[in-house]
Amino acid sequence: MEILKYPDPRLTAPNKPIERLEADDARRIEEMFGLMAKVDGIGLAASQVGWNVRLFILGFEGSPSIFWNPTIELIGEKDLLTEGCLSFPGITGQVARASRVRLRARTPEGAIDVMTTGLAAQAVQHEMDHVDGRLFIEYFSPEDLARIEPVLAELRAKKN
Ligand code: NI
Repeated sequence: MEILKYPDPRLTAPNKPIERLEADDARRIEEMFGLMAKVDGIGLAASQVGWNVRLFILGFEGSPSIFWNPTIELIGEKDLLTEGCLSFPGITGQVARASRVRLRARTPEGAIDVMTTGLAAQAVQHEMDHVDGRLFIEYFSPEDLARIEPVLAELRAKKN
């Protein structure tokens, strides 16, 4: 397992809902936490490791968290925040994100319905985009896109 880099088509492929987590899935999730920790990430979606299901993990503020079949509701004002993505090494840009997000999802501890704020809210919106096959550069301004184009071109050239 590895973290897929842009422009891998699995990053934008449809992701299936999860009916039930199997033992194999638990192993995959454990591997995802390992990969994320190695690169100091705070969030990783299953699609980023080529597993096209509606699941993501967060690895900050205390205990690690696993969420599947998530839905979110954006609350609060949107702020322009600087954002990066493990599938886009060397790239950051400004993305408008809601300051508060209501997250409903399945977790190993059961169904949850929680309000998130700050960095958690930003991460949840970013990972939810992955779950929907959407990439954060889609929100970039034309200026940011022009600035990062050489890096994107390099990433595209690496891929055969
Ligand atoms: Ni990402």
